[in-house]
Amino acid sequence: MAGRQTLGIVKPDAVQKRNLGNIIAHLERDGWVVRAGRLVRLSRAEAEAFYEVHRGRPFYAELVEFMTSGPCFPMALEKDDAVKAFRTAIGATDPAEAAAGTIRKLFAESKGRNAVHGSDSDENAAREIGFFFTEAERAHLWG
Ligand code: CMP
Repeated sequence: MAGRQTLGIVKPDAVQKRNLGNIIAHLERDGWVVRAGRLVRLSRAEAEAFYEVHRGRPFYAELVEFMTSGPCFPMALEKDDAVKAFRTAIGATDPAEAAAGTIRKLFAESKGRNAVHGSDSDENAAREIGFFFTEAERAHLWG
């Protein structure tokens, strides 16, 4: 069965443009529950580790540079079939190809500066949520 949680990140471009609140409001109106969230400034080592699967791709250096350029806001988000539902909510990687009403269509600039990240599988969602939030922390927030 598909999991109920995914990891979303409001990226540095959107935080800098003061769209953090707008993006969270958009998600909450769409039925999402923010189970955990925090403003963080990623170190180079952290950004490299988070995007390890993309190491060697032509955009990797640019991606790490961008993700360390300012604060971002990782969130553990909850909804039925969360990974698929969140990818639908954020739209295509390139905002020029994203469907109307999606977060990237509304808030992203380009393929690189694309406002949000979303996990691409349940397995990666678990890994990525664990990257930013401990089990104990998540239990404490809602317990
Ligand atoms: P994200 O969902 O965070 O996962 C990997 C990121 O790499 C992706 O969003 C894009 O922001 C970025 N990315 C993918 N393709 C390119 C590209 N061609 N140029 C720059 N960045 C890219």
